[in-house]
Amino acid sequence: MDLADCYKKVRQRTEQICSPLQTEDYVVQPVVDVSPPKWHIGHVTWFFETFVLKPYFMGYQEFNANYNYVFNSYYETVGNRVIRTDRGNLSRPTVADIYQYRAYVDEAMAKFLHQEPSAEVKELLILGFNHEEQHQELLLTDIKYILGHNPLFPAYDAAYVSPKAEEAISPGFIKMDEGVYEIGHTGDSFCFDNELNRHKVYLNTYELSPNLVTNAQYLEFINSGGYHDFRHWHAEGWDWVNINKVEAPLYWHSIDGEWQNYTYHGLQPLSLKEPVCHISYFEAYAYASWKGLRLPTEFEWEAAATKFSWGKSWEWTESSYLPYPGFAKAPGAIGEYNGKFMVNQKVLRGASEVTSPGHSRITYRNFFQTHLRWQFTGIRLAR
Ligand SMILES: [Fe+2]
Repeated sequence: MDLADCYKKVRQRTEQICSPLQTEDYVVQPVVDVSPPKWHIGHVTWFFETFVLKPYFMGYQEFNANYNYVFNSYYETVGNRVIRTDRGNLSRPTVADIYQYRAYVDEAMAKFLHQEPSAEVKELLILGFNHEEQHQELLLTDIKYILGHNPLFPAYDAAYVSPKAEEAISPGFIKMDEGVYEIGHTGDSFCFDNELNRHKVYLNTYELSPNLVTNAQYLEFINSGGYHDFRHWHAEGWDWVNINKVEAPLYWHSIDGEWQNYTYHGLQPLSLKEPVCHISYFEAYAYASWKGLRLPTEFEWEAAATKFSWGKSWEWTESSYLPYPGFAKAPGAIGEYNGKFMVNQKVLRGASEVTSPGHSRITYRNFFQTHLRWQFTGIRLAR
């Protein structure tokens, strides 16, 4: 597929994700981490306008000079921006304005992509596609949060296909030998800068579960009083549980003594076979501790990843999000993409049911703060 087709495909998928939304759904920001859908669709457009069209398309006229302030996410190099908590307080630009902005940029990009871009621009375009795919997943998780925290529990899309129950539960653990393993991306295909440099890591003998922890297994933790026993929790996790009165994963509701789970179809009886999802690192750690086991490190995960199936939920690891040896930030604004977030976050590996098709790989490093659980996050045990 050529670059123009790749561009079209990724842009269409974003709009298709938004197609079940009502105008009002596009606007709200119920918590700081959940951006309004209209902000996402403007921001990914701004990314192509700012990093491709303005510097590389001779004679390009920007759509609206004020949009840099509204749709810049965190790029200090590119100037001031609306503070993150205020994204949901902006009634303008309207949803219709932002779709016009998308159409304007798409038209310019179609013209721009008529010519064969330089290697430098090609790299930026591929980063732009991957960036938009990351926001497609954020759109799906943010839409779920917006609708799932509405007292009417509206469905997102009746046609949405739920993930399959965890298939072929394999007994036992996968045994891994001690030794030196190569970690990090290799080859010419795209990767984010945080997957480099490939380097060697020594691992002691370890074992990984071939399966993710299921809702049924997690219920045992709840029913045994796991949320009320400080012994399983980090001090910060125990504070988080008590301050926020956490009793179950996000989206679980105990109604008339039965667990219901908010899904893209609305509230549904909890499916016991599915992997537990929407839990924080604190909860993943506490569950593993209650079982007398632990979470894998990101290196253990990567070294064993060809031996199990993954991709239903992001998997919390015990690894802090740190630069690999030889990690280098790109010059300019693009250097702000990953490196500046390498503090106070844990790495998640794998992918989730809402990750864009073809977006993830074995060396992919996702990262979130320990208390967050609006992403599709689950548990794989290690020992
Ligand atoms: Fe972004």
